[in-house]
Amino acid sequence: MKNITELSEKTKKTVPARVVPLAPYLGGKFRLSKRIVAKIEQTPHKIYAEPFVGMGGIFLRRTQIPKAEIINDINGELVNLYRIVRKHPEELCRCVEFRLAARQEFYRLKQTPAETLTEIERAVRFLYLQSVAFGGKLTHQAFGVSIDRPARFNFVKIKDRLRAVAERLASVTIEQEDFEAFIRHYDTKDTLFYLDPPYWGNETDYGKGIFRRSDFERLKDVLTGIKGRFILSLNDVPQVRELFKAFTIEQADVTYSINNESAKHTSELIISN
Ligand SMILES: C[S@@+](CC[C@H](N)C(=O)[O-])C[C@H]1O[C@@H](n2cnc3c(N)ncnc32)[C@H](O)[C@@H]1O
Repeated sequence: MKNITELSEKTKKTVPARVVPLAPYLGGKFRLSKRIVAKIEQTPHKIYAEPFVGMGGIFLRRTQIPKAEIINDINGELVNLYRIVRKHPEELCRCVEFRLAARQEFYRLKQTPAETLTEIERAVRFLYLQSVAFGGKLTHQAFGVSIDRPARFNFVKIKDRLRAVAERLASVTIEQEDFEAFIRHYDTKDTLFYLDPPYWGNETDYGKGIFRRSDFERLKDVLTGIKGRFILSLNDVPQVRELFKAFTIEQADVTYSINNESAKHTSELIISN
């Protein structure tokens, strides 16, 4: 019988072109992405599953594609965007054309209740707000004007990204479940989960009540029993080190440049079984 590595070598495809996330997203793993992607690609798997996919900062930067891929997020507006990008990319491109970053348009769309819109309109609304909001924030969004980073909505670039992401999602399964149910559904001995939950201490950054402090314990419990492999990234705080101490923990130092003269150093944890 062939082993998993040989099989996954055979079924592995390579991403044709550079695919990048559609919009900024709070907690997008830009600075750690090289290290995490390298670790994912060194871990043999035939099924890749991401329970907290967000804007796909890691999912889209992977270059090797296994037999099956599944993405998930509890945010219904985000999941609707993914589904519409895959199903109606040209309609979406037509709808974003000639939209510009403008304060009035931002607040008009922000105040429009999602329930009054069609699925395509909801996707456009989410993509526009996310592109223009300060700091890629999901809650308490404000029109993102700052001297360093003026709000921008470059519809020409966005159309190219939409087409590339649509092609990349063609055979990807998209789910909207709580992480625990999702992990239980897709756990097999050949599955690799990459998990990027909200940071410890920032549980409400993605909306109230969707992730609580006690959910870290629930996450640890579900990961403890899985048949597959996992890679989890979290902020480096003593509580996280203590909770996940039964697993392998690597420290990753990250430097953020604030301006030309100063930089901020933080450390993150990459936890795996
Ligand atoms: C840190 S972000 C992921 C960022 C992502 N890696 C990226 O590059 O864009 C965490 C994500 O977890 C989602 N989330 C929060 N609670 C969840 C839950 N209970 N089940 C599934 N997803 C959840 C949020 O909606 C958010 O998109």
